[in-house]
Amino acid sequence: MDPERAHHLAFGALRTAARVPVLRTAVARVLAPRHDVLRTHALGLDLPGPFGLAAGFDKNATGIDALTMAGFDFVEVGTVTGQAQPGNPRTRLFRLPADRALVNRMGFNNDGSAAVARRLAERRPAFDARLGVNIGKTKAVPETEAVADYVTSTERLAPHAGYLVVNVSSPNTPGLRDLQATEQLRPLLTAVREAADRVGGPGGRRVPLLVKIAPDLADEDIDAVADLALDLGLDGIIATNTTIARDGLVTDTAEVEAAGAGGLSGAPLRERSLAVLRRLHRRTGGRVTLVGVGGIETADDAWERVLAGATLVQGYSAFIYRGPLWPRSVRTGLAARLRESPYATLADAVGADNRKADAP
Ligand code: FNR
Repeated sequence: MDPERAHHLAFGALRTAARVPVLRTAVARVLAPRHDVLRTHALGLDLPGPFGLAAGFDKNATGIDALTMAGFDFVEVGTVTGQAQPGNPRTRLFRLPADRALVNRMGFNNDGSAAVARRLAERRPAFDARLGVNIGKTKAVPETEAVADYVTSTERLAPHAGYLVVNVSSPNTPGLRDLQATEQLRPLLTAVREAADRVGGPGGRRVPLLVKIAPDLADEDIDAVADLALDLGLDGIIATNTTIARDGLVTDTAEVEAAGAGGLSGAPLRERSLAVLRRLHRRTGGRVTLVGVGGIETADDAWERVLAGATLVQGYSAFIYRGPLWPRSVRTGLAARLRESPYATLADAVGADNRKADAP
């Protein structure tokens, strides 16, 4: 079956279950058990744990309760663009099962920031769900007007966002990743910050602002983003998005080529995403909240990310491969890792590997 169709069917089934109150409560009891040790305070939010669903799964904010029921501690909605757009022609999502990876060139198919803002405003949450909103550039908007497009989305969405993410790292919108250069990124983040402060977050609170970066950045560029984040007082950095690289895959070259252009996610991304995270943590000395994402499949992967500097972790591809019990297994395993460790809380463990390596 076309993986995109499979996604819509599975997501639809989850949403249907979440609409029936008795079922919703029963399913959540199984899939989202409480682990008090995992409670996390980050980005001004009180979260039941550090494990979120990465952007791209719930692009239009139609299934936040369903995904919370499925065991994610928070959900990042989007990417949402200023204007609604259809994305790239299908087929645009491919599985590489031998690599436990996906290739996608969705191209920000979404309902646009006005419709998503309306949906979030009308939402009557069944759970005390925590959500971030990830915004990107409308494809038809020229790069010279990118800032205005992000500002439009910010004004509409910040009032509904637990945190806001400026996505400049998806490979499927031409020119988008050029916005990662600090000469472009500084004015963009400054304008989004000002817009968010103008409209305010939920309840008039200040909305935490993060930037999401690509794993394909050179190390100097990662350092430049880290320095910029400190300089601007950015709240966090999400590392990483998908990669345009195709290195180290076991899948047949012909099959990889048949999938074509797009972002690669899943297991092959693990090593580079971890390295980018570790570099960011060293450079920022823990003064910026880091979100680790890319190739996280197991509780051990998530724990490794925490020790490397991640306060929060996210996943997407492994949810496709491992199914509805996956969030539960990561959270339960993570709670066990923490209890076995010398650290009393998750916050104590954040970046512990780097402190050890830096010790005289
Ligand atoms: C994504 N990802 C993504 N990221 C983003 O910031 N905005 C988006 O719209 C999307 N869309 C999207 C669609 C699909 C089909 C996939 C597989 C991924 C990237 C995602 O949030 C994450 O950063 C990467 O997938 C790496 O994590 P995993 O999948 O290796 O756990």
